[in-house]
Amino acid sequence: MELLEAIEKRRAVREFTDAPVERASVERLIHAAVLAPSAMNLQPWAFAVLLDRQRIEDLGDRAKSHLLANFPRTGPVASLRKTVEDPHYVLFHRAPALVLVLATSSEAQADEDCCLAAQNLMFAARGEGIGACWIGLARPWANLSSTKVELGLPEHYAVVAPIVLGHPKAWPASHGRNAPEIHWLK
Ligand SMILES: Cc1cc2nc3c(=O)[nH]c(=O)nc-3n(C[C@H](O)[C@H](O)[C@H](O)COP(=O)(O)O)c2cc1C
Repeated sequence: MELLEAIEKRRAVREFTDAPVERASVERLIHAAVLAPSAMNLQPWAFAVLLDRQRIEDLGDRAKSHLLANFPRTGPVASLRKTVEDPHYVLFHRAPALVLVLATSSEAQADEDCCLAAQNLMFAARGEGIGACWIGLARPWANLSSTKVELGLPEHYAVVAPIVLGHPKAWPASHGRNAPEIHWLK
């Protein structure tokens, strides 16, 4: 798939078939992720991968409980409370694969670098016909010390991008985009 086509056709995918995501596919996506630019080429990222649908759902249930117990009271996320409270709302969308993009340092621009790696990973997934969805709602739980200990992640790493992957039941239609606000500077 051409780059612009992948950019135009990428969608947040939240419904997946029963097909697993192969380890080799995830390795290819991570290969694409680490081609992202990073400040001073520090490459301050690491990746944690889980390929077990049931375990992902279980972790998602706990992330959801943590979220509901600490739900933001203000800002755009606050408006999602009713949606997330629905017992049928599954945080990780029953995906067969979960990738956590981790910042390995607290350098000032490590988060930005990890976001670029995450974006590369999602575009590469689109190129392979794999659906991806960034699950920001899981981030507070993922960054708890207890979660990192349980998952065997170094405690000083920060989870920047929890991303679920799977084979889409269908590619969702675009939500469209607002016209960009552009300031042509003189
Ligand atoms: C930082 C970030 C956090 C997101 N968090 C969630 C999330 O927790 N759950 C979810 O289902 N989608 C999440 N999304 C997906 C967005 O809702 C989605 O990208 C947006 O609605 C635009 O749709 P599109 O990606 O199909 O163009 C997140 C996306 C980003 C970039």
